[in-house]
Amino acid sequence: MAIKLVKDNIYSVGVVDFNEKHFHDHTYLTRRGVTYNSYLIVDEKITLIDTVRRGFEKEWIKNIRNVVDPAKIDVIIINHIEPDHSGSFPEILKICHNAKIYGTEKAKLGLIKYYGVCGDWIVVKSGQNLNIGKRILNFIDVPMIHWPDSMFTYSAHDKILFSSDGFGQHYATNKVFDDEVNFFILMDEAQKYYANILWPFNLLIANKLSIINKLNLGIELIAPSHGLIWRKHISEIMKKYHYWSSNSSLNRVAVIYETMWQSTEKMAKKIAEGCNSEGVEAVLFDVTKNDRTDITSYILDAKGWIFGSSTQNREILPIISSLLNFVKVTKSKKRMSFAFGSYGWSGEAIEKIENILCDFAALEPSVRTIFNPTEEELNKCYEVGKYFAMKIKIDEA
Ligand SMILES: Cc1cc2nc3c(=O)[nH]c(=O)nc-3n(C[C@H](O)[C@H](O)[C@H](O)COP(=O)(O)O)c2cc1C
Ligand SMILES: [Fe+2]
Ligand SMILES: [Fe+2]
Repeated sequence: MAIKLVKDNIYSVGVVDFNEKHFHDHTYLTRRGVTYNSYLIVDEKITLIDTVRRGFEKEWIKNIRNVVDPAKIDVIIINHIEPDHSGSFPEILKICHNAKIYGTEKAKLGLIKYYGVCGDWIVVKSGQNLNIGKRILNFIDVPMIHWPDSMFTYSAHDKILFSSDGFGQHYATNKVFDDEVNFFILMDEAQKYYANILWPFNLLIANKLSIINKLNLGIELIAPSHGLIWRKHISEIMKKYHYWSSNSSLNRVAVIYETMWQSTEKMAKKIAEGCNSEGVEAVLFDVTKNDRTDITSYILDAKGWIFGSSTQNREILPIISSLLNFVKVTKSKKRMSFAFGSYGWSGEAIEKIENILCDFAALEPSVRTIFNPTEEELNKCYEVGKYFAMKIKIDEA
């Protein structure tokens, strides 16, 4: 990516990887690629915010060089040490001999573990600030959003919040601002990012958002470490973060299943038909044909979660089981749910699904069939789906 001016004397100097489709080593399908954002503030003290993933250091340093001689960087701020942002830290350290590095204590320790170096580090925490000339930068630590080391940096002079992974989206583009790309695609990627990276930290996020809200910063730009900078749609994305972090949901349903010989699938289709007959949209997800991260994105704000699996060797089938493991850590409340599935003789999968779901959802009775479902059993699935949709609607009323 060519360098882009974000605001007077603030440049976006990061890199774009259009070809990264399997971020986090295949645990996140990044259909639209990834950017690793890094920002350079040219003030009395030349300040660099975050680095980029290893492998992109040459392009990144060239971007910096287009603005200033990297050896003249005085300050490097490390908002987050995950290797997609810190991977090029050792490279920049070799060039910036005089730079002071600012970040949390946990970030310092983490970088030493990763790279064996941390440079001339100054530990900072919430409430502390740094004068770089015209600007005073404020640090806001945001532990576990989404790593223990994470922090945000705010420049009141520019009204920019450098938000690390917060408010990020995996969206490779040479554009810089939210209003330069399709709004719906952008929000879709922001939702997918929230669901897959931030959802398990809902409570912390809700608390942090309310603290930031009370600070009345008058934020005009939110510059995350991935994707576009929020400029036009700040209130929309803030509202979304409030909405997602408070476990709010829409009256829609996901019917998620895994099947060996399609018996459970036949049940799934009938259950979804039943829901749809009541005007409640139900989307079918065969976990072997959909990416887990897309399903997660859909269920983030779906009120009804219906999970089906046949039983294999007394267990839930393996792929849906891994999705349920993720769902478990979200600790989401306020959902409605039930389990279903076909089995042969013992049928443990259904009870095991219920044991996971009951922690965070109001559970309706399960539906089960032995081997291939009969016409009558399929009608029952339809009726159960219909009844479930009616309950979802009542819950809203
Ligand atoms: C390898 C294998 C292991 C199985 N283990 C169990 C089991 O432990 N308990 C059980 O009730 N059914 C077991 N079954 C039977 C299936 O659950 C049953 O055939 C069911 O109808 C499959 O539904 P599906 O077509 O939706 O996959 C097993 C089937 C296979 C192929
Ligand atoms: Fe991260
Ligand atoms: Fe990241």
